[in-house]
Amino acid sequence: MENNKIGLIGCGAMGSALAKGIVKKVGIDPSLVYLYDLNRERLEDLAHELNTVGANDLDELVSQCRKIFIAVKPQDIESLLYSIKDMVQQGQIFASIAAGITINFIESCLPPDSKVIRLMPNTPCLLGEGTIAISSGENVLPEERDDIIDLLKSMGKTIRIPEYLMDAATGLSGTGPAYVFLFIETMIDAGVAVGFRRDVASEMVIQNIIGSARMLQDNNRQHPAELRNSVTSPAGTTTAAMHVLEESGFRSCLLKSVIAATNQAEKLRRG
Ligand SMILES: NC(=O)c1ccc[n+]([C@@H]2O[C@H](COP(=O)([O-])OP(=O)(O)OC[C@H]3O[C@@H](n4cnc5c(N)ncnc54)[C@H](OP(=O)(O)O)[C@@H]3O)[C@@H](O)[C@H]2O)c1
Repeated sequence: MENNKIGLIGCGAMGSALAKGIVKKVGIDPSLVYLYDLNRERLEDLAHELNTVGANDLDELVSQCRKIFIAVKPQDIESLLYSIKDMVQQGQIFASIAAGITINFIESCLPPDSKVIRLMPNTPCLLGEGTIAISSGENVLPEERDDIIDLLKSMGKTIRIPEYLMDAATGLSGTGPAYVFLFIETMIDAGVAVGFRRDVASEMVIQNIIGSARMLQDNNRQHPAELRNSVTSPAGTTTAAMHVLEESGFRSCLLKSVIAATNQAEKLRRG
C-alpha cells in the first residue's frame, strides 16, 4: 500500500488530540485524514471541526489508510483488531496508544508480518506539551517509525525506548503529571499556610514550575542539582528547606512512588 492517508480509530480524549495535532499543527491535508469511532456523534463533530473524512465504517478507513492510529481503550482493542484482521493490507502501519497492550499481542491479532508501533502518551499531549514513549515492532522500518514520530510532534516530545521499558514509561511519564499536580497542590497549601491568598499562591507556584522547567530545558546540559545549588546560599533559606526535605525522605518517597507505579503497570499488563 503506497498512499499517505492517515486513519485514526477512536476519537475520545487522546484520539481527538492526536487528530487535531495532525491537522492543525503538522498541517496534513484534512482530506487525507480518516476518522472512525463507534460513537457517531463524537466522530461527526470532530470530522466536521477538522474538515477530515468521517469514515462510515472500519472497512472504509482500513481500506484507504496506510498509517492507522488506534486510540481505543485497552479493553476494546482485541475485538477491534479481530474485526479488522481480514481487511489489513501489506505495508500498513498500526500505531497503538492503548496502555499495557504489547506489540506482540497486537501482532498476534493481525496477519503475519504486520507492522506495529506502540506508544505511551501522557495527558499534557492534549495541549501539545506531552511526552510520548515509542517502541516499534520488528517489521517496522526506521523510516516508517520516523514518519509516525513526525506526526506525533504535534502532541509533544517523542522518546524512543525499548519495549521492555514501557511499564517504566507508564510509571514515570504516563503517571508523571499526577506527581507534579500533587506537588503543586501541596505547594499551594504551603503558600496559604505562610499567609498568601489561595489564588495568589496558585499563580506563584504554577509560574515557579513553568520557569524552573524552562531553566532546565534551556540549560539542558546542566544537572538539576547544579541549578539547585546555585540558589542555595550559606546558612540561607534554601538550605534550611532542603534539610527538612531530606530528613522527611522526600527523594526516597518519590523513588518508591515511581517504582510502585511501574510495578502496578506490569501487574495490570499481566493480569
Ligand atoms: N488518557 C490518558 O491519559 C492516556 C494516557 C496514555 C494512554 N492512553 C490510552 O489512550 C487510549 C484512549 O484513551 P482515551 O482516554 O482517549 O479513551 P476514550 O476517551 O474512552 O476514547 C476511546 C474512543 O474509542 C471508541 N471506541 C471503542 N471501541 C471502538 C471500536 N471498536 N471502533 C471505534 N471506536 C471505538 C470509544 O467509543 P465508546 O465511548 O462508545 O466506547 C471512544 O469514543 C487508551 O487505550 C488509553 O490506554 C490514555
